[in-house]
Amino acid sequence: MSDLSNGSRLLLTLLCDRKFHSKGKICKLLNVSAVCVNDHIKELQKIGVDLYTEQGRGYQFAHTTLWLDEEKIKAVSGAKNISVLLIVDSTNQWLLDKIPNLENGHTCIAEFQLAGRGRLGKKWISPFASHIYFSYYQAFNCSIEKLAGLSLLVGIATVNALEKSGIKGISLKWPNDIYYQNKKLAGILIELSASSKNICYTVIGIGLNVKMPASQGKQIDQSWTDLNTISHLDIDRNQLVAFLMTELACLLKDFEITGLRPYIDRWFKLDCFLGKQVNVIIADKITSGIYRGINTSGSLLIEQHGKTIIFTGGEVSLRLHNCNDNK
Ligand code: ATP
Ligand code: BTN
Repeated sequence: MSDLSNGSRLLLTLLCDRKFHSKGKICKLLNVSAVCVNDHIKELQKIGVDLYTEQGRGYQFAHTTLWLDEEKIKAVSGAKNISVLLIVDSTNQWLLDKIPNLENGHTCIAEFQLAGRGRLGKKWISPFASHIYFSYYQAFNCSIEKLAGLSLLVGIATVNALEKSGIKGISLKWPNDIYYQNKKLAGILIELSASSKNICYTVIGIGLNVKMPASQGKQIDQSWTDLNTISHLDIDRNQLVAFLMTELACLLKDFEITGLRPYIDRWFKLDCFLGKQVNVIIADKITSGIYRGINTSGSLLIEQHGKTIIFTGGEVSLRLHNCNDNK
């Protein structure tokens, strides 16, 4: 876990009232020196907190973004189980730690993740009050094998929510990425808690970029984008979170019975690599071929010398053949 000192956490909580706080008052409240306050301010700036300062008045948040708001999300989604946090290690982990005391659809969102994570142990860059860090709990009455296509369905639900918000032109990359013009806009991470034979407890995590602070984007080692860049619309994160909840509830409802079958056509319309020459990477082994989409289980279909090879989830990564990024 990356760390945020207790003093910086306190300062962040204090600033959440969006009012000015003088350095003298901060020193007193945190019981530290002015030099120490400067260190905390630097620490907050490092995680993407944008502070505004005025001579004689002190510091306040410079963010113009609307804050995550439980009541607004409930009003739009009609859902009752949502936990809105200021700071968390990972919204996925927060829910995983609470299984099985959760109801289906329980959602956790946060303004900031100290240890946001992607697939295969990769890091998810999670600057403060900038994006959506979203996790959704769902138990399925089926075996783990039946969940193979789940991340694809979650991708479709995310595109639906974005379209409802007026965002067009989004595509999907097998198995868990959401793209706009070859740049990564969002990622999906599905994690399972220990499951019995016929029940799987899942946490579905979605990280969706809304407005990336310039300093934070530099840390991402692939092409990325955010909603602020691809649309002139003023994105309301609360509304978008509500749409994500509604779409997931709707699409996941029958998944354990129907699987991906009813959504295959929709996937093919959204798939950004269809018919392209690609590399399939598993550890350090690369297989090249033409990408032919998915089968009804959500497995990857690659055509090589006229034959079809099937790859199933897990540790598999897909890249365009001519892409430099074959890590
Ligand atoms: P694949 O899913 O095909 O294996 P990937 O490199 O996208 O490839 P993921 O585990 O899906 O791997 O996502 C993690 C990666 O996403 C990070 O290694 C980084 O390159 C990128 N990344 C991290 N944070 C962000 C962010 N906020 N926005 C866009 N991309 C990010
Ligand atoms: C990926 O592309 O590898 C998936 C990224 C998933 C990031 C989200 S942010 C909310 C949830 N909490 C996490 O720690 N990860 C997911």
